[in-house]
Amino acid sequence: MPGSDAADLARRHAESLFPSVGLFYDEPIEFRRGEAQYLYDGEGRQYLDFFGGIATVASGHAVPEINQAIKDQLDRVTHTSTLFLIRSQIELAERIRAMTPEKLDKVLFVNSGTEANEAAFLVATLARDSNELIALRHSYHGRSFATINASGQTPWRSSTLSPLHVHYVGNPYCYRCPWEKTYPSCGLLCARDVEAVIQTTTSGRPAAFVAEPIQGVGGFLTPPPEYFQEVKTILDRHGIPFVCDEVQTGWGRLGVADFGFQAYGVDPDVVVFAKGLGNGVPIGGLIATDELASSIRSLSLSTFGGNPLATTAALANLNYIATHNLRDNARRVGAHLKARLWDLAARHPAIGDVRGLGLLVAVELVADRQTKAPAPALALRVLEEAKRRGLIVGKGGLHANTLRLCPPLIVTESDADAAVAILDEALAAAAATGR
Ligand SMILES: Cc1ncc(COP(=O)(O)O)c(C=O)c1O
Repeated sequence: MPGSDAADLARRHAESLFPSVGLFYDEPIEFRRGEAQYLYDGEGRQYLDFFGGIATVASGHAVPEINQAIKDQLDRVTHTSTLFLIRSQIELAERIRAMTPEKLDKVLFVNSGTEANEAAFLVATLARDSNELIALRHSYHGRSFATINASGQTPWRSSTLSPLHVHYVGNPYCYRCPWEKTYPSCGLLCARDVEAVIQTTTSGRPAAFVAEPIQGVGGFLTPPPEYFQEVKTILDRHGIPFVCDEVQTGWGRLGVADFGFQAYGVDPDVVVFAKGLGNGVPIGGLIATDELASSIRSLSLSTFGGNPLATTAALANLNYIATHNLRDNARRVGAHLKARLWDLAARHPAIGDVRGLGLLVAVELVADRQTKAPAPALALRVLEEAKRRGLIVGKGGLHANTLRLCPPLIVTESDADAAVAILDEALAAAAATGR
């Protein structure tokens, strides 16, 4: 029976995989097939995918044009290593250079967001002869020693062993302002904290400042429009490079621009990317200034970095995003989705905040709007109830009380309406069983 088959797989998962790798749902699902914005389980049941494999499936599941490019490459050559010329790797690097500021001209390909951030920290620390990093509270940058310790969320900090000395600044989380102020009368204390931290806790010459334009795992925390310009002015005054972690925000997901730094009107010195670039095929990388890129003087390579299969998939994915105007679609459908979720907030007191840009939209759930007490148990139940009704959404935030909606960029306004209708029922059903 397909149902018990999934239960059997879940049992074998628990038996053979690291316990730190958790599964969604009381009864975990195996998706056997995907098509466009839909996923299908072992019983053939259809789900509307509003999580996109954690903001990764950009163009949709099993896109024929992308799959054909991958299959053709598979039949030609799968792997040669970076010791040989790889045409698709070079073309992809050129493509990324054309999408980013002129001063960014050297690309390194790796296999994940963690590795890409690790490489960004390596070049910044080498170039600046410093092991100090400034990071934001509630950030998430990966699962290696350096990136864990650049991540400002205790639930994700499995070790405090770090090659970096990290200084944390208060983050732009307007719903729960660390200074309990209200935007815009706050005077952007969060941005000004960067100056205070540089002046009081660093040697005066940190290697870099790292930030996600919108904090992903943190619960799609969306800074005010002026935040990054204010921060960049401070960084420039001190000559500190800005490493922009676009792992969740890149490739048009925010609708208004290809990358988050463009949406916020600043030019970083390093841009880190992964997730959405390969539409699910593993790839990560970074683009940096020539000066930073040249700071690695020893031998250094990544066996799979820029692999023919991954870079071919990425090129086909970027072509699909461009030819189908998915960035514009993300802007239009994202705005519609957010407006509909605010409508929902009028009926559901558990919705404390709705935020995000494009198709990176969060709904923060609270037990009480006055105290803003987080409601993680309710969020879990909403996830279950949404799944029962055929909708997949994600979860995140420091208190695990935030629903994360980041579907493939192909979803339509009627998909958004369908998702909101399911969330409406799921919230009612979850609330009925207590907070
Ligand atoms: C902003 C950000 N940076 C880095 C990472 C790490 O990427 P990966 O899981 O591919 O190592 C993530 C993963 O969620 C992320 O959201």
